[in-house]
Amino acid sequence: MRAEAAPLTLGIETSCDETAVAVLRGQDELLANTVYSQADLHAQYGGVVPEVASRNHVTKLPYLVDDALREAAVSLTDISLVAATYGPGLVGPLLVGLSHGKGIAFGLDIPFLGVNHLEGHIFAHRLHAPESGPPFMALVVSGGHTSLVDVPEYGTYQLVGSTVDDAAGEALDKIGKMIGLAYPAGAEIDRMATEGNPKAIRFPRPMANAPGFDFSFSGLKTSVLYHLRKNPRERHVDIAASVLASVVDILVKKSIEATRRFHRKRLTVVGGVAANSHLRAALTAAGAERGIDVTFPPLKLCTDNAAMIAAVGAYRHFERGESHDLSLRPVASLGFMEMASA
Ligand code: KG4
Ligand code: ZN
Repeated sequence: MRAEAAPLTLGIETSCDETAVAVLRGQDELLANTVYSQADLHAQYGGVVPEVASRNHVTKLPYLVDDALREAAVSLTDISLVAATYGPGLVGPLLVGLSHGKGIAFGLDIPFLGVNHLEGHIFAHRLHAPESGPPFMALVVSGGHTSLVDVPEYGTYQLVGSTVDDAAGEALDKIGKMIGLAYPAGAEIDRMATEGNPKAIRFPRPMANAPGFDFSFSGLKTSVLYHLRKNPRERHVDIAASVLASVVDILVKKSIEATRRFHRKRLTVVGGVAANSHLRAALTAAGAERGIDVTFPPLKLCTDNAAMIAAVGAYRHFERGESHDLSLRPVASLGFMEMASA
């Protein structure tokens, strides 16, 4: 007799400008992970336009669901659970994915679970390294978030620090705009920094030496603006390298300190900025010096995706028995600790 296959979860992510759908078998067998990035659409405006994002999610999402099912070689009726992001993010885009997910769950008469996008980022680590679970410290660093979170076990999170103004990726994107780069600018700044001199300009390291684990990046942006006004001929590669040196210094200092303070042996780094080659090298070296294992899931799991959303859904539903009813609303400013009662 054939053993019963583990249940399938359909994950949906539309909190910002990525439309993403994934199919997960059991807790960590990823069958499909499709992402459509709207970045090119928003590049002409220099940032994400919420209404444009919502409309684009509406047109793309049904096709992405079909693509994901085809890639996973399963049919919609094989799905046992729908998990969709319900916050934090842009309320219009969130509403599109949430409504679509609820519609599928209602139509199939299967359970539905709303997922906190921030918990999703942490689960990128679980998908990447299911065997090396908590405890660990997590640095979630992207265009929307910069947070340090202590994870004693999955499902239990202590927010250790977060940005008091801009996220690190957001600051890089805004600085990129000042030097004429297209949105999002992080990857190009990464590349340019390799050619530039990180010591050319000593930009400030806001809050790097302040007690606690909060971050601030908006002062850095202002310093770059003033520097460019005074030195319009400064080489852009030197600006990129010097800005990145500041961002990397701050992130390394705070995250290594937090990992030590909480007596954790592992630091996992997730979110789009985790792709940064300079941050990866500096954190890996700083971790090695202090006996901390620093891990970065593959890029496809670091940037916004639905695999991580499906993974939270599968864990919360199949391991903890949670689900939401279909009245769950999107929560634009959902915090790390907030989880709608399930
Ligand atoms: O996780 P993500 O795709 O979306 C958000 O939740 O924000 O992260 C996007 C951010 C953007 O700010 C982008 O500029 C940044 O990640 N990013 C990078 C790199 N690749 C993407 N920042 C620095 N270096 C990179 N290589
Ligand atoms: Zn994100």
